[in-house]
Amino acid sequence: MIALKVAAIKRVTPAVVEVELRDALGSDLPPFSAGAHIAVHLPNDIVRSYSLTNDQRERDRYIIAVGRDSNSRGGSSFIHDVLEPSHQVKAEPPRNNFPFAEKAKHNVFFAGGIGITPYLSMIRRARELDCSWELYYSARSRSNGAFLNELEQLQQEGSRLVTHFDDEMNGQFIDLGKIVEQSDQDSDFYCCGPAPMLAAFKEATKGCPPERVHFELFSNLNEADTTGGFTVHLSRQNRSVFVAPGQTILTALLEAGIDAPASCREGVCGTCEVRVLEGKPFHRDSVLSEAERESNETMMICCSGSLTPDLTIDM
Ligand code: FES
Repeated sequence: MIALKVAAIKRVTPAVVEVELRDALGSDLPPFSAGAHIAVHLPNDIVRSYSLTNDQRERDRYIIAVGRDSNSRGGSSFIHDVLEPSHQVKAEPPRNNFPFAEKAKHNVFFAGGIGITPYLSMIRRARELDCSWELYYSARSRSNGAFLNELEQLQQEGSRLVTHFDDEMNGQFIDLGKIVEQSDQDSDFYCCGPAPMLAAFKEATKGCPPERVHFELFSNLNEADTTGGFTVHLSRQNRSVFVAPGQTILTALLEAGIDAPASCREGVCGTCEVRVLEGKPFHRDSVLSEAERESNETMMICCSGSLTPDLTIDM
């Protein structure tokens, strides 16, 4: 865990703030790659994951941007209403479930709402590598469009920024299918946004080679497995916990008083990933690729269950 202090907080839109975090003792921070996120442990014991928006070459700070969630359970509301410069927070080292592939001739980015955040670091990286890109940024209204000035400044030769504000388009969503169809098929396609946008993106890119299609979810499209009826063995703690019907592995462990890492609890951030030593998980997350699922080497305990009566995990 990294101890961080809040160096600055800046309001970007009425609903989005940008938070600059530095090492509490002034040391360099662990490196990250474009598209990465950190799980922030807030002083109110809530853990939330946020994409890093700054240049991956910067080692002295992490910058995150946080949208106010109207259904906040204490994450975004705490950051908006309580967090102040000089406060301390803890964070897990950066992870990257949405890496910039860096290989494509051209990159087509789709962002919905606060899903713009991972592209800020990706575009900085694309500039560094001189990769061309186009960004389709969709928000409910212009006032909800964060970082528009910054994105304009980040444009380079071969780049294009297209905004789509639903309220200016009679509530029509952006037509991802048409954009993908008209794009150079050697492009890599990326999407980060709410579930309906993701569903449209998956439909639009279903004919593309999977290695060219990249997405990050806000919420899991799969339901957590709460079938229960199996036992989880924790190899390092030499303990076993029965997962009852109605429980996830995570809830069973927490109820047994076992500390387990978790952030989103929805199978989208990867914080709860553990190594599987024996048994076969029933994967329900949206983090692992198909190949990673088949290898059964790791699993997300917040939402995935077990296909075998016993499951041994590296905890
Ligand atoms: S806590 Fe986020 S994937 Fe499990």
